[in-house]
Amino acid sequence: MKKVYVKSYGCQMNVYDAERMTDVLAPEGYVQTQVPEEADLVVLNTCHIREKAAEKVYSELGRVRRMKEARTLEGHETKVVVAGCVAQAEGAEILKRAHVVDAVVGPQSYQRLPEILRAAKARRVVDTEFPVEDKFDELPALDAKRVRGRGVTAFLTVQEGCDKFCAFCVVPYTRGAEVSRPVAKVLAEARTLAAAGVREITVIGQNVNAYHGEGPDGRTWGLARLLHVLAEIEGVERLRYTTSHPRDMDDALVAAHRDLPALMPYLHLPVQAGSDRVLAAMNRKHTADEYRRIVERVRAARPDIALSSDFIVGFPGETDAEFEDTMRLVADVGFASAFSFKYSPRPGTPAAEEAEQVAEAVKVERLARLQALLEEQRQAFNRETVGRTVDVLLEKPGRHPGQLAGKSPYLQAVVIEDATGAVGDIVAARIVRAGSNSLFAETNASAATPSVSSNVSAGEPALAVE
Ligand code: SAH
Ligand code: SF4
Ligand code: F3S
Repeated sequence: MKKVYVKSYGCQMNVYDAERMTDVLAPEGYVQTQVPEEADLVVLNTCHIREKAAEKVYSELGRVRRMKEARTLEGHETKVVVAGCVAQAEGAEILKRAHVVDAVVGPQSYQRLPEILRAAKARRVVDTEFPVEDKFDELPALDAKRVRGRGVTAFLTVQEGCDKFCAFCVVPYTRGAEVSRPVAKVLAEARTLAAAGVREITVIGQNVNAYHGEGPDGRTWGLARLLHVLAEIEGVERLRYTTSHPRDMDDALVAAHRDLPALMPYLHLPVQAGSDRVLAAMNRKHTADEYRRIVERVRAARPDIALSSDFIVGFPGETDAEFEDTMRLVADVGFASAFSFKYSPRPGTPAAEEAEQVAEAVKVERLARLQALLEEQRQAFNRETVGRTVDVLLEKPGRHPGQLAGKSPYLQAVVIEDATGAVGDIVAARIVRAGSNSLFAETNASAATPSVSSNVSAGEPALAVE
């Protein structure tokens, strides 16, 4: 039996792809290991989104080279594959820069890993084609036993690629054009997940709310319709989706947040910036006020929804006043969580060519201020939950005996200190304290307070962050 070690960077799409790669390799006799030193095959599933992310690959390859040398001395062979978005973006360059690499495999080619590895016995291989055939059709069907080992929550890719071409972003180049999987295929995969014990499915895509898959009726279905049928699958208790673009937040999807109890009250809706000039320069195709209106519509449908976002500071030409617009937008909206980044010029993207790049020191200062405000809002949101009873999906044992850890409907990490249920159960738990990263809860006192559960009736403001 051979062992494969897969290390994944970047977004949820890569997490899903990494799992699928091990699925493809299983029939070839590979079992997964968490210990790189014992791996016959090392796969780095890379991310190209920011310079730091891409550079990590090369420092990791340095470590892999030393490991491979040590294994060679012991008489073991090690194959090294670079997959993911850096593979797609840099292709053969990687072979030049890192001699340890045997094969470079793009995100639309990994279904061919077995043949690529066979070819790599004789020569170094680069496969970054965007094949005409559907990658998903060539992947093996999900195996219930393998799924069970991965826990009670799962990602399910329903859409891939991006046609939006934001001026800063590499994704349209690394992942290709927007493609949606047909509804029937998504449902089949979801049923396998549920039957294997998965209770929460997060449907994912680079622009998941632009989903437009072929329905069983031959018509095009949007994400809302897909979520409605996913919710009917026996065993699927919770649904989430990520990542969304503000332009694709249609009425049906907003209404799903009101009408679909399984759809968790959490929305990751990246806005990037609060200045209309910057948003236009980014090619985001919406204004800051349009974003505010979307938030109003979503909150009208689901008052307790937890909002999350992505921000970029120091986009080329961003002035102090324009950065203040971002701070104002954050103050107006109130986020439960967020990711924020310094703008990183990426090769081949229009913004990288702009003459007016913002100085690093200015980016650092803006990021610190923005993160301080976002952190304040995150903690305020978490404190609001204290004293309330929420449904917690139990995902794994906690750090200490007797504890179980899981997630609230709002995607907060919750540690239950007197857990009686089992992994996979959804229990009502009273939040007693907010730590810096997790909430702490008890199940015994839960009956005393009204439940703020996933199926709280619409119009009942259970949790507001203003
Ligand atoms: N499809 C998603 C985002 C995918 S990338 C969307 O449209 O929102 C995830 C996040 O990385 C982006 O939301 C953005 O905030 C950040 N990002 C992308 N390119 C970047 C760059 N060149 N520099 C800094 N951050 C970047
Ligand atoms: Fe990148 Fe914009 Fe597409 Fe998101 S919508 S993946 S930020 S180009
Ligand atoms: Fe990174 Fe590729 Fe995802 S660039 S963020 S791994 S789509």
